[in-house]
Amino acid sequence: MPERHSSMSPTVTSMIRLDHMHVLAAFHRYHADSSWWRKRAIVNSTCDALEIHAQLEEEIFYPALATALPDDPTLVKSRPEHDEMRATIARLRGMGPENAAYDGLFQQLMREVIHHVADEETILLPAAERALATELRSLGTTMTQRRLQLLKERPAEIAVNTAGTFPVATFLLGSALVLAVRYCLPKSHRRQWDHSRDD
Ligand SMILES: [Fe+2]
Ligand SMILES: [Fe+2]
Repeated sequence: MPERHSSMSPTVTSMIRLDHMHVLAAFHRYHADSSWWRKRAIVNSTCDALEIHAQLEEEIFYPALATALPDDPTLVKSRPEHDEMRATIARLRGMGPENAAYDGLFQQLMREVIHHVADEETILLPAAERALATELRSLGTTMTQRRLQLLKERPAEIAVNTAGTFPVATFLLGSALVLAVRYCLPKSHRRQWDHSRDD
């Protein structure tokens, strides 16, 4: 992406915070007494979003931070924590909402993610903002491009799973959607779009 596009991209740390906010909101929308189809839609779309988020962090954010803080203990344990989360996701995908263990397993995933997100938000993101200040926007651009690629790899799955969970869809798409919409607009409409988003 040309530099002028990079300068308009959200920073990588603000994109990560936005992803976190959306997944935590999705957790709050899950209730044990909800219908089975709503539970499954929330669980599947949340798992899709978490998998994509973890992959983006591992491919783009963690390696960049590791160049500045290679031995940071919170950074070192981040990938193993993603792997724990992936194992819980695999168990959830292997059962249906009718299973008595489904609610408990989703709560376990919530606890794992909340603990992990707290470490990222209190330690890793502030550390990145100190150590990588000049790279945060270009890393954000790279993350947006990679997110679009990953979304293309599973369009049907995401369309089905987000059908009843629109707020989670915004998490999956995140700023990728914002950039995609902006660049699809004719030039004459872009300024209007930008102003409307600033209001
Ligand atoms: Fe993470
Ligand atoms: Fe994260």
